[in-house]
Amino acid sequence: MNENTFRCSVCGRRVKFQTQADLPILDPNTGFTVCRNCIKDIYRFIEEDENHRNLRIKNSFAANLGNLLEKNKPHVIKQYLDEFIIKQERAKKILSVAAYNHYKRMKYDLENNGGNDEIDKSNVIIIGPTGCGKTAMLSHLSKLLDIPFAVTDASSLTEAGFVGADVEVAVRNLYYAAGQNIEKAEHGIIYLDEFDKIARKSGENNSITADPGHEGVQQGLLKMLEGSVVEFTARGQRKHPEAPTIKVDTKNILFIVGGAFVGIDKIIAKRIRKGEASLGFGVDVPTKEDGDEKFNELIHQVRPEDLMKYGIIPEIIGRLPVICTLETLDEHSLFRILTEPKNAPVKQYEKLLAMDNVKLEFEEAALIAVAKKAIERKTGARSLKGIIEDVMLDVMFEIPKSEEPRKVIVTEKCVTEGAQPQIIPLDEEEKVSLEKIS
Ligand SMILES: Nc1ncnc2c1ncn2[C@@H]1O[C@H](COP(=O)(O)OP(=O)(O)OP(=O)(O)O)[C@@H](O)[C@H]1O
Ligand SMILES: [Mg+2]
Repeated sequence: MNENTFRCSVCGRRVKFQTQADLPILDPNTGFTVCRNCIKDIYRFIEEDENHRNLRIKNSFAANLGNLLEKNKPHVIKQYLDEFIIKQERAKKILSVAAYNHYKRMKYDLENNGGNDEIDKSNVIIIGPTGCGKTAMLSHLSKLLDIPFAVTDASSLTEAGFVGADVEVAVRNLYYAAGQNIEKAEHGIIYLDEFDKIARKSGENNSITADPGHEGVQQGLLKMLEGSVVEFTARGQRKHPEAPTIKVDTKNILFIVGGAFVGIDKIIAKRIRKGEASLGFGVDVPTKEDGDEKFNELIHQVRPEDLMKYGIIPEIIGRLPVICTLETLDEHSLFRILTEPKNAPVKQYEKLLAMDNVKLEFEEAALIAVAKKAIERKTGARSLKGIIEDVMLDVMFEIPKSEEPRKVIVTEKCVTEGAQPQIIPLDEEEKVSLEKIS
């Protein structure tokens, strides 16, 4: 290097400098030096590259939508749900159509460059008794779809200013489900579970007078449902005025809300009875105590005004045009849930025991007994796993003591009388079939 010049390590040109401070040595050990021209070029290159990349993401998202639409036709989505969810045919159909339409709206929006003649979204409300598959159905749907999908428990939300999570949390969850990509999040789906828990306490179904901000939560959610720019801080970041915020527009986000709405059948029955009485008929309207069949009959007749009576504000109901009702599961459905779904409890136990060289056999009568017990517990399919777990506990404890291939037979008495499942040696043929499971 001459006294007032240096050689750029990138372009190789000799460059003049005036003071020592102008000398851009990047690495004093090797003398690696870059001239200003090269630095500018590198900057420009990075900037252009990033712009290209973003454009590519946007274009590929738009181009990919056609593909996604092709892949996610309603009957395909329903087929997938059928693999996991027994019964609830109408609900599966409604959700499949809602998801497919959501893709279509997105495509339309992108192709029309966000013009004014957009297609309205149809948010969905799901109502059904406990343990009938609401949360399960939505979590399977979320696994299938290629759009961000986040489940938030509405009962954990509180009105701003109260202890707990603000309604923005639902959008924040979606933002993280979208890999912190705002554009993707703005086209995602939010599922608000346990939505009945934010019913106004002064609703007909509640006699308690205190209302810890539930109406406030509904008001907060209303803005989100209508479409607004929601502002929130990053996870782990404390909320203070200077904290940087992330902004997500909820205009194109599809909202699905769900809950058990315990007691809604009585409200529906009362309304129907009133209507019939005014017509001069004296009819007996069924309630849940009359049996599940009657309950199923009633629940499908739910109307927006029943939800209003339950304590949901009319503005919210107006923003949830699709009402989807799920039925109570009968004994036969529970029996099927034990064995048929891809992740059925019996299949899960078979796999677990096969890892210990054990073939598991449930007698049909045993499974029927499990279903009967679950019916008594009145928590839908929710109690099935617990009942089987009880029956299997001792076996699961004993089995790993030896590596000998064996067979476990669960009989009806194991379920009804607490008898121990039999553990017997395997014959050759069974050993081969066991290898196939594990
Ligand atoms: N129709 C169904 N088909 C298959 N499995 C089901 C069905 N319904 C419920 N299950 C199983 O039962 C369990 C509980 O169901 P889920 O969590 O979906 O209940 P829920 O309807 O959300 O009830 P809650 O109102 O109490 O939240 C899950 O493990 C799920 O796999
Ligand atoms: Mg649930």
